[in-house]
Amino acid sequence: MATPIMVFQLKLLLLIVFVVQFSAAKPPSLVDTFRSIIKPKADSTTWAVLVAGSKEYFNYRHQADICHAYQILKKGGLKDENIIVFMYDDIAHDPENPRPGVIINSPNGSDVYAGVPKDYTGESVTSANFYAVLLGNKTAVKGGSGKVVASKPKDRIFVYYADHGGPGLLGMPNMNTSDYIYANDFIQVLKTKHAGGTYDKMVIYVEACESGSIFQGLLPKNLNIYVTTASNADESSWGTYCPGLTPPPPPEFNTCLGDLYSISWMEDSDSKDLTHETLQQQYLRVKKRTLNNNSSEGSHVMHYGTLSIRKETVSNYQGSATRKISADPFHTFDTMGVINQRDVDLYLMRQKYERLTDGTQQKNDLLKKIKEITAYRAHLDSSVNMIKRYLLGSGDGPVRDEGSALVDDWDCLKFMVRTFETHCGSLTQYGMKHTRTFANICNSGITKKAMDEATKKSCSSFKKGQWDPATFG
Ligand SMILES: *[C@@H]1O[C@H](CO)[C@@H](O)[C@H](O)[C@H]1NC(C)=O
Ligand SMILES: *[C@@H]1O[C@H](CO)[C@@H](O)[C@H](O)[C@H]1NC(C)=O
Ligand SMILES: *[C@@H]1O[C@H](CO)[C@@H](O)[C@H](O)[C@H]1NC(C)=O
Ligand SMILES: *[C@@H]1O[C@H](CO)[C@@H](O)[C@H](O)[C@H]1NC(C)=O
Ligand SMILES: *[C@@H]1O[C@H](CO)[C@@H](O)[C@H](O)[C@H]1NC(C)=O
Repeated sequence: MATPIMVFQLKLLLLIVFVVQFSAAKPPSLVDTFRSIIKPKADSTTWAVLVAGSKEYFNYRHQADICHAYQILKKGGLKDENIIVFMYDDIAHDPENPRPGVIINSPNGSDVYAGVPKDYTGESVTSANFYAVLLGNKTAVKGGSGKVVASKPKDRIFVYYADHGGPGLLGMPNMNTSDYIYANDFIQVLKTKHAGGTYDKMVIYVEACESGSIFQGLLPKNLNIYVTTASNADESSWGTYCPGLTPPPPPEFNTCLGDLYSISWMEDSDSKDLTHETLQQQYLRVKKRTLNNNSSEGSHVMHYGTLSIRKETVSNYQGSATRKISADPFHTFDTMGVINQRDVDLYLMRQKYERLTDGTQQKNDLLKKIKEITAYRAHLDSSVNMIKRYLLGSGDGPVRDEGSALVDDWDCLKFMVRTFETHCGSLTQYGMKHTRTFANICNSGITKKAMDEATKKSCSSFKKGQWDPATFG
């Protein structure tokens, strides 16, 4: 005769059998909602390409971001031979740096400069070298260490870029040569890399104004590439840890130490066990922090490409070696003091101006520089406006569908940028915002001849050499 205990045990057994069977029959979609067990194969190598697109001390933060990323990857177990760094390398030893030979990326942060490989510095930080490195084409590289992503079919690649951008393009430090990373060229390089079959999956993080425009309507979903960007296609991204804001850098620093999206992903990576955190979790946390309490001083982190990759753990791309996990910063500062990337230079100059003694040569010189930059910006704005009026009348050009690419004819956009820079001077990081107007002109089907004439007419009184774009970043 069955005792109540035996009946209970039988029921328990049936329940277990049921659960086991049910689990076995569980559709993949249910499994998918949990952390993916996808692990790189034993013989898979993770490669990384880190790019700081700016130079000069007032842009300290971009190189600081890149150096910090290197430290994360290095601690994660990636080898120097697999990490390729592009940075102008003019920050650590700049006379304005209060800690010579040291770069920090947060107010209480330790040195992130030590040990960073100097693969491509100074004039070798170019878009052409960036493409050659990604494609693993050693013969196409000019200058630098010659290190390239010599990846194999099972390998993973992590790419991180930080700098100024504009609709359809990203800055590079040699702006007087009109060197930009154009979205279509970058996407073409990714397609070529994919066609070559020399990687398994790739993750790309991009900090720049309008960074969404680099991928929106352009990045195919079938390249096994997952991208997140600091902002959507229409908005600025933000510098942070700036003097006079909360939290400020140490008082001796007259520069911003980081960028909001960048420090958000990196402080997240520093404070998490990356073998347990998924890319999706990191994306959501970074998105929340970069929104900056829904204030107007925040941006919308976006993602593009092969979204299924986000189920993988962050460690697949940033390394998994055991390391000291730092305190979680997300509870410390809910709202970050930030400055629009494009205004950081003038903001810092005004901060410095306030602190200098009245009547000194240094103060007068700085005021002169501030006035020149302000005047140059006004010149850029009014020239673009005039060109627009000549070519588009009072309108803004055709409205494109939500989510579509900025422009169809990229050669036209490049032509317009070159024509403008020839007759009106360098766009500078500030003027990169005007490429949307140039794109609208291209989308209106206006001829190159008309563009050329309108640009010449608009800038007929502009004297080349009157301004030195190199000093305007
Ligand atoms: C830096 O450390 C000080 C002292 O411990 C602390 O008060 C401050 O909040 C820290 N700043 C940041 C940004 O973590
Ligand atoms: C590498 O670059 C060189 C020089 O630009 C080019 O001639 C060559 O075709 C490239 N090789 C590959 C495999 O793409
Ligand atoms: C920001 O706004 C979104 C949508 O309105 C809301 O879901 C979210 O909770 C808000 N976040 C914060 C931090 O207020
Ligand atoms: C978020 O913003 C609201 C108003 O916009 C403000 O009252 C609140 O203090 C902010 N929260 C934090 C944590 O900064
Ligand atoms: C660009 O400017 C830098 C100085 O900032 C100079 O060294 C370099 O030669 C210039 N390149 C060209 C092509 O004008």
